[in-house]
This record gives sequence, C-alpha cells and structure tokens, in this order.
Amino acid sequence: MEIIINNLSKRYGKKEVLKNISLTIPEGMYGLLGRNGAGKTSFMRILATLSIPTNGDIQMNGVSIKETTKVREMIGYLPQDFSIYKNMTVFGALDYLGLLSNLPNKIRKERIYTLLEQVHLKDNTKTKVKALSGGMKRRLGIAQALLHNPQILIVDEPTAGLDPEERIRFRNLLSDFSDGRIVILSTHIASDIESTCQNVAVLNKGNILFHGSTETLRKQADHKVYLITVPKSLDKPIKEHYYVLNRNSTNTGIQYRILSNTPPNELAEIQTPTLEDGYMYLLQQAEGES
Ligand SMILES: Nc1ncnc2c1ncn2[C@@H]1O[C@H](COP(=O)(O)OP(=O)(O)O)[C@@H](O)[C@H]1O
Ligand SMILES: [Mg+2]
Repeated sequence: MEIIINNLSKRYGKKEVLKNISLTIPEGMYGLLGRNGAGKTSFMRILATLSIPTNGDIQMNGVSIKETTKVREMIGYLPQDFSIYKNMTVFGALDYLGLLSNLPNKIRKERIYTLLEQVHLKDNTKTKVKALSGGMKRRLGIAQALLHNPQILIVDEPTAGLDPEERIRFRNLLSDFSDGRIVILSTHIASDIESTCQNVAVLNKGNILFHGSTETLRKQADHKVYLITVPKSLDKPIKEHYYVLNRNSTNTGIQYRILSNTPPNELAEIQTPTLEDGYMYLLQQAEGES
C-alpha cells in the first residue's frame, strides 16, 4: 500500500499554496509537519478528494484521485474543524452517518459498537455530541472516519486544543489504527509525531522542505544545538545573534539552548537534538534562503 504524489500544485486565484509537490507515502503513520498557513489543510483536502489540484496527480494504491468514487471508498477523513450534529447522541450520529454511506443495518450496528470500543467511547453511546470534551469529540471523529473501514486515514491537526493526556491517548489510538493502513497526521507540533510516526514531510509555504524518516529530520540539527549560560547583560545580543530554542533564568545568569553552526563559545555544551530542533533548523535554513 502506498500513495504516490506527483508534481502536485494548488492555486487559489493567483496564490500558489502548494508548489510542485512530489512524495511517496508508505504504510504506517506519516506526519505532515508545518506552521499555520503552510498548506497542510489544502494538501489534505486534495488527498480526501474534496478539492481538485491545479496540476499534478495522486495515485492511491494505483488509483488516481480523479476516480473520486473509488478513492472515497479507500479513505477516511477527519477535518480540522470537525463538528457533527451536536444534538444527536454519539451512537445516533454514527448510525446516521453509516446510513448515509449505505452500510447495511446489521454490519452498521456491529461496526459502530466495535469502533466505539476502540476509541474508548463505549460508555458514552447515549451522550449528546455537544456534551463531549474536545478529546472525546476528536475520538468520535476518528470513529466517523473509520466507519467504512478505509485503508487510508487522513487526520488534520487532531491534537489542537487537547490537553496533554488526551493528546497522548489520541496519538496512541492513531498508532493502533495504523497497523496495515496508511495514517496521515498533520500538525504544527513536532512532538506530536516524534513518538508515533516513522516518516514525516515538512511543508513550508507550499514547498516540501524535507521528507524521510523522523530520525533523519532530527539529525538535521546534529552538532547545531548548544547550551550556553551568559550574564543577563548579554541577553539582547544573544537573542539577536542566535535562534533561541529555549531560555531559562538561573542564579548564575541566563541559560540558552540555541541553534548555531559553530560552538558559540568555549563553555558551550553541545546537545543531542530533538525532532523539534531538527524541524526548527530546517525552517531557519529556509528563512535564510528566501
Ligand atoms: N479557499 C481558499 N481560498 C484562498 N486561499 C486559501 C484558501 N484556503 C487556504 N488558503 C490559503 O492557503 C494557504 C495555506 O492554507 P492551509 O492549507 O489552510 O494551511 P495550514 O493548514 O497549513 O494552516 C494560506 O495562506 C491560506 O490563507
Ligand atoms: Mg490547517
């Protein structure tokens, strides 16, 4: 199973929001990382056949996204602004959606109960949608996207607004579903994909800055991350000269975690980069070039 994206671009009027993207997405969990406005939602809407590319094509298991009906059978989609029938119950909403997608009665009920169990909502079948917490709503969104048992699951910024526990729980849930499937998860937070995605693409201003393993992205910042402590009087020049990843006031001065191509001074301690460091380094490089 794979998704092959070939020279994809998207324009809204004169504005090009996706620029000639080529990418292969393999089975498992795939992260799409980028700042707000990078083009993640535009890209995912094309993958979900809700928007038509200006140029290029996507093949999902050999089927072009132009074959909308066939592709829709293959994909499940959880939009960024997911909301459904807030006055219905959890079960009622899913049952209704299942009816709309022509799932036969018996299969529909069985599937809904199985899914509600998997997304840990089986005690909430009678809860009204409007009474669910943010995390529960997102989990209902996943159940909705998986109703027709798709091979490809597309999830747009699902962790936004979730508290840390819900976030971890939700990530683990997606990871469970990625067995034998492709799960594409977009986010602007590197740590969302650090623990769960084997592969990642970084989108910036409509361009793919990086695609490959999360480990390779992390290593972009190898030998570039330093810890230094300086007196408070040097706060301004440090901030002006370096990209500061982290700043901490201590008794002896201010401790900075910074990006630098060379050691900033003799006392600087080199640090092992995190995925976020690799991502930040990449964005910094791109800023420098533009
Ligand atoms: N329907 C639209 N019409 C015009 N511009 C759009 C439309 N949708 C998105 N954009 C623009 O495309 C760019 C990418 O947006 P989006 O795909 O939502 O990014 P992200 O999801 O990464 O935040 C933004 O500059 C946004 O303003
Ligand atoms: Mg978005």
